Amino acid sequence: MMKYTVIRGTGRYLPPRVVTNDDMTRWMDTSDEWIRQRTGIEQRHWVPAEGGVGSSDLGLAASQIALEEAGWKPEDIDLIIFATLSPDIFFPGPGCLMQHKLGLDATPALDIRQQCTGFLYGLTTADAYIRSNLANRILLVGAEVHSTGLDISTRGRDVAVIFGDGAGAVCVEGIESDEPVGVLASALHANGRYAESLSVELGASRNNPRISKEAIEEGRHYPKMDGKTIFKLAVQKLPEVVGEALAKAELAVEDIDLFIPHQANLRINQFFQQAMKLPEDKVFHNIQRYGNTTAASIPIALDEALEMGVIGSGSTVMFLGLGAGLTWGAVITKLVSE
Ligand code: UT7
Repeated sequence: MMKYTVIRGTGRYLPPRVVTNDDMTRWMDTSDEWIRQRTGIEQRHWVPAEGGVGSSDLGLAASQIALEEAGWKPEDIDLIIFATLSPDIFFPGPGCLMQHKLGLDATPALDIRQQCTGFLYGLTTADAYIRSNLANRILLVGAEVHSTGLDISTRGRDVAVIFGDGAGAVCVEGIESDEPVGVLASALHANGRYAESLSVELGASRNNPRISKEAIEEGRHYPKMDGKTIFKLAVQKLPEVVGEALAKAELAVEDIDLFIPHQANLRINQFFQQAMKLPEDKVFHNIQRYGNTTAASIPIALDEALEMGVIGSGSTVMFLGLGAGLTWGAVITKLVSE
């Protein structure tokens, strides 16, 4: 018998305000055609423009659904792992904020700052905790509120049209099994050389003062992205890391029932599908409706794929992604009945 980390329940939450590509044309020089052709995105969900909703609120809503599906009460959780690049406030992180909103007062909470691969790093961390008997029931959340931090003008249009708000949550649990189930392999990487290719500078501890009027006027509190560099790195590194994870799990491409990539750009995921010579229906997409929700995109897609019946108990699923850091990775998991 070996210890394995299995997924027990999943949930997602998208704030109700839908922002279409046509809405974007009211605020910046762009078009529905440009956004669809370059990214595949048709609409995204954003929190209310007046503010007041943080990533811990979206994470809480997704977590409540995942907990219900797993049949867990908040008191059953040994550890909360919260992945985000858009914390409610600079510190403390949303893991602590959400823990309190769940009505807990001592459960440990850990934040993961790995952007688009936050869920992959989080799931791998959860697996390590579980297999080393430090925790057995972990609530893992990926949640983002991007919309309040975007330059919603022509100056910021390359980034602003891409990002959406949302949250996904999974309950993961350790079980003893003779057969390999749950998390089967993980491959994670980072290369800080590309840190500036996708980043938000402010409020930066290296600046004194951290935030100045001039820096705000220059827009240094908004994300900056060298889209072409990130695109090229994604197309190159995603097939590589998928091969690495398959080798670790001693599986072949054909053994994977569904690839759930981070939803950064429909074209990146189509390139990936073609490079791997995969049938179209083996790669899951939902960026059309949600945009890029960073750490939330993989758990949202997992929850949807399960709900649609594309995958279920016994399916072998590969999660993969690349983004700011630069970070990239892949995790293979075999689903069990809940
Ligand atoms: O999850 C995080 C990881 N991030 C990614 O994976 C992002 C990867 N990169 C991308 O998805 C693409 O690079 C983008 C979608 C961001 C941009 O697509 P692109 O084909 O690389 O376009 P580009 O940046 O080279 O821009 C082409 C043109 C430019 O105009 P000129 O210089 O050719 O006149 C831009 O100014 O498109 C212009 N442009 C826009 N036009 C209309 C940039 N953004 C927009 C816009 N609407 N929103």
